[in-house]
Amino acid sequence: MAKKDLFDEIIECLKMQALVSPDTSVSPEVCREFFSDVEKPRRAPVPPRRIPPVSSGSDHASGPAPFVRPSPAPAQRVAAPAPSVRRQTPAPEGKTPDKMNWDELYDAVSACHACKLCATRTNTVFGDGNPNADLMFLGEAPGADEDLQGLPFVGRAGELLTRMIGAMQFNRAEVFIANTVKCRPPNNRNPEPDETEACRPFIMRQIELIRPKVIVMLGAVPLRLLFPEVRAGITRLRGNWMDYHGIRVMPTFHPAYLLRNPAAKADVWKDLQQVMAVFGKKHIPRRRA
Ligand code: URA
Repeated sequence: MAKKDLFDEIIECLKMQALVSPDTSVSPEVCREFFSDVEKPRRAPVPPRRIPPVSSGSDHASGPAPFVRPSPAPAQRVAAPAPSVRRQTPAPEGKTPDKMNWDELYDAVSACHACKLCATRTNTVFGDGNPNADLMFLGEAPGADEDLQGLPFVGRAGELLTRMIGAMQFNRAEVFIANTVKCRPPNNRNPEPDETEACRPFIMRQIELIRPKVIVMLGAVPLRLLFPEVRAGITRLRGNWMDYHGIRVMPTFHPAYLLRNPAAKADVWKDLQQVMAVFGKKHIPRRRA
């Protein structure tokens, strides 16, 4: 039998808790999702649908419409335009990202040719989840699976992230997941400084529009983006709250690192429990027989 992952164990434990005390804090969606032991098929691309407009600004009270993702482009390479026609991050109608609403930002990302990554991408990866989320996860860059599907964290690291989110008693639709850059760096290398700089206005505006209560920062690349002045690395900083313009930020290890170093899952679980505490969620350890 396959060895259980720490996060699988936690989810098991949540299921049992839900059985013995139905008034548990585990949300019904999470229970439903994890009571099904059938391995879920990889998400198929969704048919194209209009993205409902979201008011600009970070007004959560007005309850902006959920983000409906258009389908990804078929797998085909986007040729980089000649430098003379290359548009910099300022996008359609001369608006810069900091003035854009959610739809405009989505369109600007889809059409972006601000750095060399556009030459090798199949799809841009805008982000996924609830644009009004209180909890946001910020990763590094799309990999091969993400590039093909136009969605963040859908490969192996993504499966682990999904389990981590489940163990936190959230589900992917409740949170927002994005990356530091929107296009896949070739051969899964880390994004280069010119690429993160070119993409910076997009993720800054996403954070501004979502205005989450907490950002979980996955790995060193988002740490460098949000806190360029901080010299310490992710190993030193993980588990310690940081502040990004009034938003609480929890740095922790990237799921891809956890796949290579499973022993670090215990540290990450401690970090995630600090985040859960902000939302009044508590892990109830399994009772020993
Ligand atoms: N790693 C990331 O940082 N982001 C993804 O979307 C997938 C893997």
